[in-house]
Amino acid sequence: MAITAPDYSVKGKVAIVTGSTRGIGRAVAEALAEGGAAVVITGRKQEACDKVAAEIAAEGYKAIGVATEVTKAADRENLIAKTVEAFGRVDILVNNAGVGGAPKKMIDMDEAYFDLYVDADIKGLYFLSQLAARQMQAQGCEKGTHPYRIINVGSVAGIKSPIGDTVYGSCKAAVIHLTRIMANELARFGITVNSVAPGYVLTDMTKDVIADEKNAAAVNRMITLRRYAQPAEIASVIRFIAAPAGGYLTGVNIPIDGGMVLN
Ligand SMILES: NC(=O)c1ccc[n+]([C@@H]2O[C@H](COP(=O)([O-])OP(=O)(O)OC[C@H]3O[C@@H](n4cnc5c(N)ncnc54)[C@H](OP(=O)(O)O)[C@@H]3O)[C@@H](O)[C@H]2O)c1
Repeated sequence: MAITAPDYSVKGKVAIVTGSTRGIGRAVAEALAEGGAAVVITGRKQEACDKVAAEIAAEGYKAIGVATEVTKAADRENLIAKTVEAFGRVDILVNNAGVGGAPKKMIDMDEAYFDLYVDADIKGLYFLSQLAARQMQAQGCEKGTHPYRIINVGSVAGIKSPIGDTVYGSCKAAVIHLTRIMANELARFGITVNSVAPGYVLTDMTKDVIADEKNAAAVNRMITLRRYAQPAEIASVIRFIAAPAGGYLTGVNIPIDGGMVLN
């Protein structure tokens, strides 16, 4: 009997990863490059994008950097155009860029903070997904196949109810829900749409929270595995969703949280 091995390769795919100059996004870009995809590195500064792209290319992988402020329509359009110009297509979009890590209670809330989070964490993701989906629709695919991927990075803050996260948590809850509706709308174009919800990951976003020993211990107690995640542990799940092995998932949210949602 021939045994069919699961296919975790993304060879020949073209992947855009927003917010990939550092943190989770960078680990995702590296994991996809290692899997054989050409990757597009984005962040707000061209220099930082170029640096990461050059480091990935130095390992023998395909990568370019395209500075993109996800809240700006012109930047989103430029990102898709530059990707198509360089690699001819878009197969995978990972909507990872976002703001977070500065909890603020509702009683102290101001509109500037609210708008910053909504624009970066929902609006940018929404309209970049729209552009990517239009590109994927134009590329086409064989009827009954679903080769394209949109993968959104949510958060456990969108599932649990952490104090100080009315805005961030609500944005991330919206990400989880719009993932489900987008999955329903975009299946006909050969696109699956899923989200992941990381718990606490060691990145710039969490370094201030974790720097305070008392805070760090309190957070640790909420995690069943009693440790924070490394960015690569989020990236490996995203790589699985992006690969043919994850091809029958759509509209799903996967918590990658060491068991935080259990507590
Ligand atoms: N770290 C965690 O514990 C954790 C937990 C749950 C969910 N998440 C989510 O995971 C994602 C990545 O988080 P991270 O911890 O890796 O963050 P990070 O280390 O702060 O990195 C954020 C990345 O996003 C980019 N970025 C931020 N705002 C942007 C904007 N308006 N336009 C374009 N790019 C922007 C940054 O690029 P530049 O600064 O170079 O422009 C950077 O590359 C976020 O969506 C976050 O909400 C993180």
